[in-house]
Amino acid sequence: MPQFVLFSRVIAGASLLLFAALAHAEPVTVASATSPDKVLKVSLQLDGGMPSYRVERFGQEVVGNSKLGFQLRDGRLDRDLAVLGQTRRSVDETWEQPWGERRVTRNHYNEFTVQLGETTAAKRRLDVVFRVYDDGLGFRYHFPEQPNLREAIIDDELTEFAITPVSTAWWIPAGEPIHYEYLYQRTPLDQLPLAHTPMTLRSSEGLHVSIHEAALVDYAGMWLRRTDGQRLRAQLSPSAEGWKVRRALPFNTPWRTLQISDTAGGLVESSLILNLNDPNVLGDVSWVKPSKYLGVWWSMHLDEESWATGPKHAATTAKTRKVIDFAAKHGFRGVLVEGWNPGWDGMWVGNGYDFDFTRPTADFDIEALSAYGAKKGVHLIGHHETGCAIEHYEDQLGAALDLYARLGVDSFKSGYVCDDGQVDRRNPAGGPLWREWHDGQFMARHHLKVVQEAAKRHIAVNPHEPIKDTGLRRTYPNWITREGARGMEYNAWGQPPNPPEHEVNLVFTRMLSGPMDYTPGILSLKGRHGQAIPSTLARQLALYVVLYSPIQMAADLPEHYEQHREAFRFIEDVAVDWDDTRVLDGEVGDYVTIVRKDRNSRDWFLGSITDESGRVLPVSLGFLEPGVRYRAEIYRDGDGADFRSNPFAFKREVREVTSADAMNIVLAPGGGQAIRFTPM
Ligand code: NOJ
Repeated sequence: MPQFVLFSRVIAGASLLLFAALAHAEPVTVASATSPDKVLKVSLQLDGGMPSYRVERFGQEVVGNSKLGFQLRDGRLDRDLAVLGQTRRSVDETWEQPWGERRVTRNHYNEFTVQLGETTAAKRRLDVVFRVYDDGLGFRYHFPEQPNLREAIIDDELTEFAITPVSTAWWIPAGEPIHYEYLYQRTPLDQLPLAHTPMTLRSSEGLHVSIHEAALVDYAGMWLRRTDGQRLRAQLSPSAEGWKVRRALPFNTPWRTLQISDTAGGLVESSLILNLNDPNVLGDVSWVKPSKYLGVWWSMHLDEESWATGPKHAATTAKTRKVIDFAAKHGFRGVLVEGWNPGWDGMWVGNGYDFDFTRPTADFDIEALSAYGAKKGVHLIGHHETGCAIEHYEDQLGAALDLYARLGVDSFKSGYVCDDGQVDRRNPAGGPLWREWHDGQFMARHHLKVVQEAAKRHIAVNPHEPIKDTGLRRTYPNWITREGARGMEYNAWGQPPNPPEHEVNLVFTRMLSGPMDYTPGILSLKGRHGQAIPSTLARQLALYVVLYSPIQMAADLPEHYEQHREAFRFIEDVAVDWDDTRVLDGEVGDYVTIVRKDRNSRDWFLGSITDESGRVLPVSLGFLEPGVRYRAEIYRDGDGADFRSNPFAFKREVREVTSADAMNIVLAPGGGQAIRFTPM
């Protein structure tokens, strides 16, 4: 080889080495903050112009260097960035939930904002805001107004979460047809494919982390794709238009959230998601009524009656009147009626074009029934199944809600039944319909529009097959609950039905996002064609305390409640709106015990459930008011109870207790226990 060639190769090699050394130089920390009690520390770094963040808990790394930025239509916005300025602030305030798991919430954090700008000719700008709490953190991007970028067309977000401690993950798949309605999988984090949030992690040392988002407004939902090892990257829910999000500047993205706790229960007790949402914009929301309801519902899932008109039609005037009578007799405020309107007679799944939301079927006298209910203190609960014909529904929305408002129907359930990725959207150019995902930007806009229109008429909304909860109930307290997971209906017809660990998993995964309309209380313990529901009787009662929702359905048929009067008493008595909530004990997927203090009395309620293993859980009653004697009404698994072989073994007993006492909660396999504590 000629000398000069060798020489130039050596020079080239050396400069490559120099370049590599520069590229792998340690990232420079440009801003950092600790949480108020110095539990967490978050640092923002620049690595040769590329932003990343890092999280430590008590000095131990929880999230290693994780990239920030965007793939925009007009080029990546994740490099060649320099700091233009930064601001900091600390906030310590309390605020009150109009309804909720607790009355008073403390919002205590340290925040920094770093303004970044490109050093290249494009000179685009992007701010990053971090809020650091003791129990987690949130960060979001702010696209400020700027001359070189009027609109952001986001092809994807490049945000990463590189989890350091070796962890197990509980997750459901994203990008699959049934939205969020999957059983949770438990795998090593480094085997995760593409998953929804909230996703829950537990390290081998017992550190619990939940990754989710807050305030998902006019943006696409975040999925998580594992890129390598334990490194996850945001992947935004798709849009029919090719890009994921299109927004005029300025705007904020949703918060990316990490709840971090030593215990599984700590995740549940955290208010991070609500704290990161904006305060209530609706003012006085005393018209939003936490309450319990019955329904013209379960019989259709059992296939004994139908949504469609004809001999099996469930929503008739006569049948609904009977349910109203039963509701009035047993103190339920609401009666949900599905199948009340035209549109159910053909194939409505994925086809909502026959639905008329402004008039009832001929055999359902909505005027007379709402008046009949009003006399008895019972409100009809409306129902809008859209079959995913979104704009067909939106065209009728105003008139449909006006009808409800006129009749005193002050809450309704909605439905979006079609495969995910198959939500209809009109193609503005004509031609074949566009198809959207249940949690893309199009649906984020749709859901908020419905909530806002309903709020104008003082109506609360409970969507099924919804977009995931990101805490917007704080801003819009009429967004009262939603489905968004595999609910009780799977116990009617699901293959398999929900195994006992599913409901425990829900507490530490889905429920971290907000309330769920799970529709508990199937005391008959039978699904379609007699299929056994994997639960004991007492467990059905415990679900009212364990799975939080400010509206709770007593989902079974009235005649089944007549057959189980003793157990039904708990459903009649249990509260739905709480001053306080505490997790006494629990492990993801294994068991959980939660206590909640009623907002409208001095009563406390306890709910405890287990997976397929029986357990004895010692609990201290220290949460009760000291010095007060309580009557404890205990609804427990009877001797020999087992969800497989002896699900109805059940015992109700009454004891006197004080806060100085301890109890052993004995749970059968697949079992549960519910207790009402009333001051004597
Ligand atoms: C699915 C919902 O989850 C269920 O509750 C409802 O009955 C049907 N869709 C019909 O809207």
